[in-house]
Amino acid sequence: MSKEARAPFTAEDAAAAWDAGADAFDAFVESGEDFYRIEVHGPGLLAACGDIRGLRVLDLGCGQGYFCRQLADRGAQVVGVDVSPGQIGHARRHEAERPLGIVYEVMDAAQVGEQWNPGDFDLVTSCMAIHDTADPARVLASAASLLRPGQRLVYSAPNPTTDPPYREWERDSDGRKLALKIDRYFDTGPKEMDWNMPRLEAHWRTPMVHSNLSEMTAMIDDAGLLIRRIHEPRPTDEQVKRRPKLDDCARLPYFLLFDCVKSQPQRA
Ligand SMILES: C[S@@+](CC[C@H](N)C(=O)[O-])C[C@H]1O[C@@H](n2cnc3c(N)ncnc32)[C@H](O)[C@@H]1O
Repeated sequence: MSKEARAPFTAEDAAAAWDAGADAFDAFVESGEDFYRIEVHGPGLLAACGDIRGLRVLDLGCGQGYFCRQLADRGAQVVGVDVSPGQIGHARRHEAERPLGIVYEVMDAAQVGEQWNPGDFDLVTSCMAIHDTADPARVLASAASLLRPGQRLVYSAPNPTTDPPYREWERDSDGRKLALKIDRYFDTGPKEMDWNMPRLEAHWRTPMVHSNLSEMTAMIDDAGLLIRRIHEPRPTDEQVKRRPKLDDCARLPYFLLFDCVKSQPQRA
C-alpha cells in the first residue's frame, strides 16, 4: 500500500471509493488473508473493549461488518454505520446468512450525534475506520456527543509512527525484512491509499487522512474525551511461528488503539 498526497475529500468521495472496493474488500476480509486483522488488531480491539455482554454498542465505519459480528458473537447488541452502501450491502448479506441481530445503517459517522441521543449506547467502537473518514475530528466529536460521562469510545488506527506517507522495508537478497524505512511523518493531511497488495483479488484506491500523534490526541481532547489507555497490539511468538508473515508487526508497532472515556463536564 502506498499513500500519495491528495486534495481534501468529502464523505461522498469516501463512499464512492469504498463502494468501488466493496467486493474486493469483502473477499479480502472473508478469505482470512487479512491476517493482521484476524490475528492482531481485531483481537486487540476486542480485548480493549472488555466485557461487552449485554451492552448496546455503536460501531462506526463498520464496513462489511467484521467487527460488528465479533462484538455480537460476544453478546453485545450492535448497530453498525458506514457511509458506503456497497459495504453495508455486504454487511446485511452476512447478517442474513448468519443472523446476530445486528442493525446496519448507511450513514456518515460524522452525523451519528444527530441520529441518536446521549446514553442510547453504552459503548462506541470503530475498527480501522476513523482515519478513512473525511473529517476525523468531526467524527470523534459526534461520537463523543452520544456518550455520557464515564462511557467509552474504543477505536483502532494504523500507528502513525510506522505508517507515515513514506514507508518501505529494506530487504536482504532473499527478500527477508531487515529494517523499515520511514519518512514524512509530519506530512499530515488527506492522502490517497493504494490497495495494491498481491493478497487482494482486485486493486482500488481510497482517500484517508494521515494524522500525527499530536494531532490525534488533540482531536480526542477537543471532542471532550480523555485517553484512559493506548494499546499497541502485536502477535505472540507462537503466532509468529504459525504465521511467519506476522514477524514485522511483532518487531514494530503497526497498530494503535485508543481507549477513551467521556470526561465530566467542566465546572464554571
Ligand atoms: C478500512 S475500512 C474498515 C471497515 C471495518 N471497520 C473493518 O474493520 O472491516 C474503512 C471504512 O470506513 C468507511 N467510511 C469512510 N468514511 C466514512 C464516514 N464518513 N462515515 C462512515 N463510514 C465511513 C468506509 O466506507 C469503509 O467501510
